Amino acid sequence: MKTRREFVVALGAATVFAGSLPLAGCKALGEKGEDVSANEDLMREHGVLRRALLVYFLAAPKLRTDPASVSPAALHKTAVLFRQFGEDYHERRLEEPFIFPAVKGKTDELARYVDILLAQHRRGREVTDFIMSQTAGQKLTESRGLPDAFDSFVLMYQQHTAREDTIIFPAWHKSLSEGDYDKMGDKFEDIEHQQFGHDGFGDAVKQIGQIEAELNVADLAQFTAAAPPKV
Ligand SMILES: [Fe+2]
Ligand SMILES: [Fe+2]
Repeated sequence: MKTRREFVVALGAATVFAGSLPLAGCKALGEKGEDVSANEDLMREHGVLRRALLVYFLAAPKLRTDPASVSPAALHKTAVLFRQFGEDYHERRLEEPFIFPAVKGKTDELARYVDILLAQHRRGREVTDFIMSQTAGQKLTESRGLPDAFDSFVLMYQQHTAREDTIIFPAWHKSLSEGDYDKMGDKFEDIEHQQFGHDGFGDAVKQIGQIEAELNVADLAQFTAAAPPKV
């Protein structure tokens, strides 16, 4: 039996071949014929951004005790990825023009959320500018500024994405008919191709993987929690 994804891919191929079957109701087909809904697209982008936040989170204590042990180039690349993929694409091309305006008028609570989320986008861009300026040189020097900026940025953006995933994106999905929601998945795919000219998400996953390898934090097993004390 075919999986749903295989079925959607097969239907897309059959439509191209036959030129007659309607594709209405199918979700966007990603780079390799993947079936990616609009909210899955947004949330997997958050996954890339959370991996960048974890790079900052892990770097902060090292910067306080032994700044020379941290590669400024790897942190700089993380900030450039956050700027290009997070701020200039995910925030400016998807959330700000499509998601926030659609949910802002629904309830007073959502309107307040949108105002705060927009303020956090603006603050995030200031922090990213600061991180890029501090990591542009060959060496990192002892300073509280960078690790303090990492800590407060990580907390803000973890909260930010968690509220978007659990409150804003579901409210946006609910505000659309299923047909319009499917069309938005296609639109997001088109915008991604316009912005990056190819598979923006796939490239971003590769980039964060390379940064993690450079900083020796690529092996997931090292983060398995210690067993709790026996009671
Ligand atoms: Fe956001
Ligand atoms: Fe977001």
